[in-house]
Amino acid sequence: MARHVIAAVDELPPGARKFLEIDGRPIAVFNIKGEYFGLMNRCPHQGAALCEGPLIGLAQSREPGEIEYTKLGEIIRCPWHGWEFDIRTGQSYCDPRRFRVKAYPAHVEPGASVVKGPYVAETVTVKVESNYVVVEL
Ligand code: FES
Repeated sequence: MARHVIAAVDELPPGARKFLEIDGRPIAVFNIKGEYFGLMNRCPHQGAALCEGPLIGLAQSREPGEIEYTKLGEIIRCPWHGWEFDIRTGQSYCDPRRFRVKAYPAHVEPGASVVKGPYVAETVTVKVESNYVVVEL
């Protein structure tokens, strides 16, 4: 699995999302309360840009008359027809076995481990032999 650096941490504060294309795939990366999640930006229903929809919560009921609102800001609602998906897993709540959005792992890495840069100078080996400096090409 190839690693892709997509933003500095400061560019993606909690509640923010960033749209990008990686290897030809439309993807959005979300910061949900300090955790990062990547999701395919294509709805499995009719192909809308799913990740442009509003972030909502999940209303669940264990018994009649009792509604619990959980996962606040962790559910994305498709802007076209309102299907809802869990950003953490890509799971659909309308038909979890048939519909799922591809989820991509995202995390924070220290800059030193990712900022090698594309600019690498050619190096040569230099050593001292008796009184002469020798370069090896
Ligand atoms: S295209 Fe997303 S719900 Fe229809």
